[in-house]
Amino acid sequence: RDDEAQADFDALIAAEQRIEPRDWMPDAYRKTLIRQISQHAHSEIIGMQPEGNWITRAPSLKRKAILMAKVQDEAGHGLYLYSAAQTLGITRDEMTQQLIDGKAKYSSIFNYPTPTWADMGAIGWLVDGAAICNQVPLCRASYGPYGRAMVRVCKEESFHQRQGFEILLTLMQGTPAQREMAQDAVNRWYWPSLMMFGPPDDASPNSAQSMAWKIKRFSNDELRQRFVGMLVPQAEILGVTLPDPELRWDQDAQRWHMSEIDWTEFFEVLAGRGPMNAVRLQNRRSAHDDGAWVREAAAAYADKHAFPRSL
Ligand code: ACO
Repeated sequence: RDDEAQADFDALIAAEQRIEPRDWMPDAYRKTLIRQISQHAHSEIIGMQPEGNWITRAPSLKRKAILMAKVQDEAGHGLYLYSAAQTLGITRDEMTQQLIDGKAKYSSIFNYPTPTWADMGAIGWLVDGAAICNQVPLCRASYGPYGRAMVRVCKEESFHQRQGFEILLTLMQGTPAQREMAQDAVNRWYWPSLMMFGPPDDASPNSAQSMAWKIKRFSNDELRQRFVGMLVPQAEILGVTLPDPELRWDQDAQRWHMSEIDWTEFFEVLAGRGPMNAVRLQNRRSAHDDGAWVREAAAAYADKHAFPRSL
């Protein structure tokens, strides 16, 4: 029977149909989805911190309202994604525990500091821009709940990317000090944003299988190339310089030629030794502890209302 179930699963994948929670699926498919979706959810939740840092200091009421909306969107993305992962048989509590125990991965990008207001622009433009490049193809992921969650996430990410671009554009039209601040933020976020796409293809252990299962549609390097192609004309409009002197279009190879990414830095951040890893996790743990009474109250309320008292 397993052979038959496997054949049905393979046929659904081959026909570009979706796998739904009730369908049979190989254990390894389930496991890889739980891994990727939970890491993605954790990234959204941890990703609220670098920008949350600026909500009280945004330079105007309008900027504050926009930033608050954006950070709330990220919380929403985390919740859709935890819900999608739950359909695969893991609980929200288990995922949260893995995160606060420091056992779960989340995106490397959120382990960098945000010392200036221009970082809000650079995060929107570069980090959310990279997120869109990576996530638009995920709308077609073979697992239904993940692909559907991505549709709304990507629409919101587009708004985030534009608001970041607009912050940088405003700064670039400002004083020399503001222009310098914008360029400095771009210098600091450019390379980490390229690392968001993951290790190079020949060092990406999960890619081949995830592409065969049509979870991933493009390789890490393909998406990184696409992202750089998107940035170059936008950088020109902004008037910022991308901090890679080697960056040029290679006509013969039909690809962007760029300097080697510092993969040592990437693996250090993944190992928990990035500039802000400890702070991010500590804040998440404190938030979890501070929220214990809310979870207890919600559970007590739910128990009370699960069955009418009269029964
Ligand atoms: N930060 C942290 N870990 C990473 C990163 C990164 N930028 N890139 C790769 N890794 C991890 C992978 O999770 C994997 O770890 P694991 O095997 O222990 O689980 C390992 O490095 C090897 O990488 P790959 O084999 O290339 O892994 P994968 O096929 O999962 O590709 C990718 C990585 C591209 C990040 C994929 O998981 C993905 O598309 N995820 C969904 C998008 C996402 O999570 N975005 C988060 C940031 S965007 C945002 O939240 C705004």
